[in-house]
Amino acid sequence: MQVDGREYRSIWLATDGLGVEIIDQTRLPFTFVVVRLDSLQQAMDAIRSMQVRGAPLIGATAAYGICLGLREGTRTAHLEDMAGQLISCRPTAINLRWAVERMLRVVLPVAEEMRLEAAYREAERICSEDVRTNEAIGEHGLVLIREIWRKKGGRDPVRILTHCNAGWLATVDWGTALAPVYKAARAGIPVHVWVDETRPRNQGASLTAWELAAADIPHHLIVDNAGGHLMQRGQVDLCLVGTDRTTASGDVCNKIGTYLKALAAADNGVPFYVALPGSTVDWSVTNGLAAIPIEERGAEEVLRIQGLDAGGEVRVVSIAPAVTPALNPAFDVTPAALVTGLVTERGICPASSEGLLGLYPEHR
Ligand code: MRU
Repeated sequence: MQVDGREYRSIWLATDGLGVEIIDQTRLPFTFVVVRLDSLQQAMDAIRSMQVRGAPLIGATAAYGICLGLREGTRTAHLEDMAGQLISCRPTAINLRWAVERMLRVVLPVAEEMRLEAAYREAERICSEDVRTNEAIGEHGLVLIREIWRKKGGRDPVRILTHCNAGWLATVDWGTALAPVYKAARAGIPVHVWVDETRPRNQGASLTAWELAAADIPHHLIVDNAGGHLMQRGQVDLCLVGTDRTTASGDVCNKIGTYLKALAAADNGVPFYVALPGSTVDWSVTNGLAAIPIEERGAEEVLRIQGLDAGGEVRVVSIAPAVTPALNPAFDVTPAALVTGLVTERGICPASSEGLLGLYPEHR
């Protein structure tokens, strides 16, 4: 996507072909900073601190993390050790494990002196595939948005509510939930996005709003608790969110608060769709509530908030008494029964085993 007239992906290989460059997402929306990663440790720090975040981008960064780590040694034990360390950086997004395992499958059978080259090739392949996959999600989601627009009489904008950031910053490019929005805007279908601020890290306010503003797509930022009210008043035509892990039976694990939006959508007859690449499906799990590990992050993310002060300084301030403890589960699980459909790179399907297997028969 474009930033100030220049085409960017969210991660790319530096011009020397060794280092990896990322956009530091902890600095947005106030400052656009590119950071260079040169070691496995730096890649892991970037994932943990959420300089990079979003399931597909975490996977892509981990793939390059393997490349950076291989620069320090190419022995099998070292590779396996790196894989374990990377996978433990963030426990919920399955794309992290998917990407690391894919890298091992490609690199391990290769002679040690060829491993570095093979790894860079595979990491680049993961990134280019991600871009193609997300664009395909965009095309399928566009059909859905066009249909809603037609039913509305082809005049007023389609009003889409989204949670967290599942835009191009969360992937290598295009995004998952926002890919159909970008496609619709380019196809001339008027859209308006309700952007949940997404406490505690505010990915909606700082990243989704930034992306939409850069693409000139009409949107309003809303507090996390406003969605239900807007749905009751008939001001939401479609909820469209991403996912960090989808079970083989269609349960969806996404940013904390997604479940409440799905409940409100069901109560108000608003279609609730989830956009995902096939790599986000965990085929080994059917019961999301019981089996998906939910990342718990530091209490400081809840107790403090970052913003720009009137003098243009970025500051972090406390919002609760110093003695107050906080709990910070980062994701929740929306049961398949509350999901109208899954928008994938292979088409749209019901959130069910049969629906998913219909699109991914190789997992039967
Ligand atoms: O904690 P984050 O910012 O990594 O969480 C991201 C999300 O919840 C996204 O919705 C999800 O990863 C899908 S991204 C295409």
